[in-house]
Amino acid sequence: MQPHKQDWFNESKLCMFVHYGLYAQIARGEWTQFNERKPCEEVAELAKTFDPKHFDAEDLVRRAKEAGFKYVTLTSRHHEGFCLFDSKYSDFTSMKYVGRDLLREYVDACHKYDMKVGVYYSLLDWRFKGYFDHKKHPESKQKMVDQVFNQVRELLTNYGKIDYLWFDGGWYDDVLPGSRPDYGQLVSDFWNSKELCKMIYELQPHILINDRTGEPGDITTPEQKTGTCSDGRYVEACMTLGDRWGWGYIQNNNFKDFTTVLQTIIIQLSFGGNFNLNVGPMEDGSIRDCEQKILAQLGQWLRRNGEAVYGTTGMPKGIESIIGEFTSKGNNVYWHVFRWPHKGEAILRGLRKKVKRVTLLETGEEYPFEQQAYGRLIVKDLPLLAPDPTCTVIKIECTDEDTPEDPDTYGVF
Ligand code: GLC
Repeated sequence: MQPHKQDWFNESKLCMFVHYGLYAQIARGEWTQFNERKPCEEVAELAKTFDPKHFDAEDLVRRAKEAGFKYVTLTSRHHEGFCLFDSKYSDFTSMKYVGRDLLREYVDACHKYDMKVGVYYSLLDWRFKGYFDHKKHPESKQKMVDQVFNQVRELLTNYGKIDYLWFDGGWYDDVLPGSRPDYGQLVSDFWNSKELCKMIYELQPHILINDRTGEPGDITTPEQKTGTCSDGRYVEACMTLGDRWGWGYIQNNNFKDFTTVLQTIIIQLSFGGNFNLNVGPMEDGSIRDCEQKILAQLGQWLRRNGEAVYGTTGMPKGIESIIGEFTSKGNNVYWHVFRWPHKGEAILRGLRKKVKRVTLLETGEEYPFEQQAYGRLIVKDLPLLAPDPTCTVIKIECTDEDTPEDPDTYGVF
């Protein structure tokens, strides 16, 4: 197969999403301004108290790398309009208020630690009346669209190589995601996204763009759910660690536990896609302990089981197991076991290749197995207790040879 500009992305599998902005000070999530109808002037005041004294891009990127992520995506500007970068087209920036271009610090750190660079950018900006009613305020709408073109050009010319542009906030007025079949077309027309994408690919031809400009872009990015895209496009699912309504810092400890996080990631990988796990730094830019703990646990698990994650494709067609999920790579199938089987015997069905060897990925230890009709594979003499109760990976090495056709009765039942 010809190399493709998206290869690195499909192989990377895991991204760390970072939502950081003025809203971290409110500690109720980045939508507080809108949902509580906070006047823009009140939000603008937050720029004066913005103090990212512990926003340490190198530390952030290093932590992401240690946790096993291969790329990071940082909010360069969210819906409130505050830029974490220096812009000629806005005074509402971290540069103007604290003299720091946080995006530059971040991009430089990614380059230094050999992490691919994702940049999130919100098309909409709640400071513009034209977002709320573009017919009544056409000039404001035009200014907002111009801001997008100007700032995206800045992002792609002032920071060196950017690998991934993650747009958001394309909706406007009552044109909301999922509200109508022509949503994509309307959004694309509103933001002049055809031209926008053309400009982006001209500035950085290798770049990948997500699907939220109204144009298809390269990658589909559903939020808070796992799954494949029905039209076969590549999917990167994104998810919060806390509740589903907040990507920025929220002041509570209602977090998913590590088991839930890991199993959700694996389910997404079994569909063949990527996973983008969000953290929301606190107002001073530091990552709180409970987020750090999950990142560290993920890193530990991936150091032992990364082979079953990076560069994998989804589960082989037809395979099924009640105790776990699958990924695959070449002739290897990885069985991610969430419920360790009873009496040391693990059974799956629907494996269509002859098996050569079965091992525990963590230890390399080999186990006896038997293959039967219906693509049944029975692995025997496994440890009685789960080597890793969160998820133990059984590696199944197959040959190119197919298993025999199924008998035409379902005699096993
Ligand atoms: C949404 C939200 C937003 C979040 C994003 C992540 O569309 O508006 O706050 O940044 O999704 O997927």
